[in-house]
Amino acid sequence: MEKKLRSTGWFGRTGKDGFIYRAWMKNQGIPDYEFNNKPVIGICNTWSELTPCNAHFRDLAETVKKGIYEAGGFPVEFPVMSLGETLMKPTAMLYRNLVSMDVEESIRANPLDGVVLLCGCDKTTPALVMGACSVNLPTIVVSGGPMLTGRHKGAAIGTSDLWRYHDAVREEKITQEELMTIEGSMCRSSGHCAVMGTASTMACMVEALGLSLPGNAAIPAADARRKVLAQFSGLRIVEMVKEDVKLSDILTRDAFENAIISNAAIGGSTNFVIHLIAIARRIGVNLTLDDFNNIASNVPLLVNLQPSGKYFMEDLYYAGGLPAVLKELHQFLHNDCITVNGKTIGHNYKPSECHNREVIAGLDAPFNPVSGVIVLKGNLCENGAVIKPSAATPALMQHTGKAVVFEDVDDFKNRIDDRDLEVDESSILVLKNVGPKGYPGMPEVGNMGMPKKLLEKGITDIVRISDGRMSGTGFGTVVLHASPEAACGGNFSVVQSGDVITLNVPECSLHVHLSDEELQERKQRWKPKPAIADRGYVGLYIQHVEQAHLGADMDFLTGMSGSEVSKDSH
Ligand code: FES
Repeated sequence: MEKKLRSTGWFGRTGKDGFIYRAWMKNQGIPDYEFNNKPVIGICNTWSELTPCNAHFRDLAETVKKGIYEAGGFPVEFPVMSLGETLMKPTAMLYRNLVSMDVEESIRANPLDGVVLLCGCDKTTPALVMGACSVNLPTIVVSGGPMLTGRHKGAAIGTSDLWRYHDAVREEKITQEELMTIEGSMCRSSGHCAVMGTASTMACMVEALGLSLPGNAAIPAADARRKVLAQFSGLRIVEMVKEDVKLSDILTRDAFENAIISNAAIGGSTNFVIHLIAIARRIGVNLTLDDFNNIASNVPLLVNLQPSGKYFMEDLYYAGGLPAVLKELHQFLHNDCITVNGKTIGHNYKPSECHNREVIAGLDAPFNPVSGVIVLKGNLCENGAVIKPSAATPALMQHTGKAVVFEDVDDFKNRIDDRDLEVDESSILVLKNVGPKGYPGMPEVGNMGMPKKLLEKGITDIVRISDGRMSGTGFGTVVLHASPEAACGGNFSVVQSGDVITLNVPECSLHVHLSDEELQERKQRWKPKPAIADRGYVGLYIQHVEQAHLGADMDFLTGMSGSEVSKDSH
């Protein structure tokens, strides 16, 4: 017998309650047979003109609706707070957990049987998936797709080039006017960043987890096939409701391992680590930072995309997309994981082919034998830190140098270009107080700009360490997510300029050469900075956000409450 639809708890009722639930829906000109006793599918939309990467989502939602109607369901589009990476201050990450709450409560409180999550710009994907996990209804993700590759003076450009152009302006190699021209050449279509930044990494993550239809990650936003996929997703979610395929049926420990393996092969963003752990902790899968080293240690980098390589998401799509990458990875993957289309991931990638070995290398000749995100441990990061070796300088993978410490972002901005700053190519820059609590919100400032006097000497990379994050489009020998963060009074809080630090990526270690006694003594003298806010959402965030190695979620949001509504007020 088919399971009773959740939405009939609203629309199938008699008397005053049923009247209220149905009558106000009818003011939209909808007869009750449209929504009564049919799978009601919420389309969770992060459309906003303040999130340019998601500005085409109204159109995308209309296409999803066509599929839902076609399959006999009833679509209802609803807005949630959107997170635009480029405009939000102090950082969109501060609001990821807030959006996840918005999503969770919006889904649970309403007469929904299934949900389509429209995700695009970086944080919109983890925020929506985290929120949906805490409700655990049948759910499918439709990503907005990447922008078309930018073009400037005949060359392909994307977001990762922004960092190079920024340094070029500081070195007066290009003018401000030329930089303005580049702005218009880079973002030339709808969609999210076209490199393997965080948005693309997240789109690949949901596909590798099995939360989207195959091919979802790489189809450009402007390509007509993005709409075809959206319509098929609308069709499929109705079937998922009938089959009662919930998020917890798909998000198994093996699915998370597949995502980690895939992320290594694509050269995904370091932000992947934080978001994947946060999602796992919502759905109840035990995933720790150490798993990232253990699961993907043999997986080479196959995908030659910026920032680790040369090409763009559009090229990845033409080369076969993520399914072609997954096919290459078959010996590492749990191929029997079920995905949203009801088929296994192994079944899904089977028909795919690689059409360009320059973009997707084979396992026999990988683009780079070094891949993924390496988790570091040591007395400078007792609970861990991460580095992305494929975007770093190989010669710096084992490096010892003297620390040049900045106490916060303002200190960094004030002194980085100071001619008297004692820094050379062997120095290690350390930036404190850009962690979850300290900033607050853990901004993407970890790939701090190089000191001008080193740039003038032609040095473009030195080791940089912080408790913050880095844009997925960033690169360099950058150690991130040091935990516990400086604001929490651990060893990272008390490192000082002149201390000697050793980074040893092959041994997964990060060490400051100080005795335990010296560290202890410094920590006893350490005093926390006053909190930036003690009220409102930011005050709540500072009080409850967890450290990076736990996914930087709020401590009270871990786990799920399911889809049951506790009280019925009508
Ligand atoms: Fe939205 Fe890069 S700014 S994905």
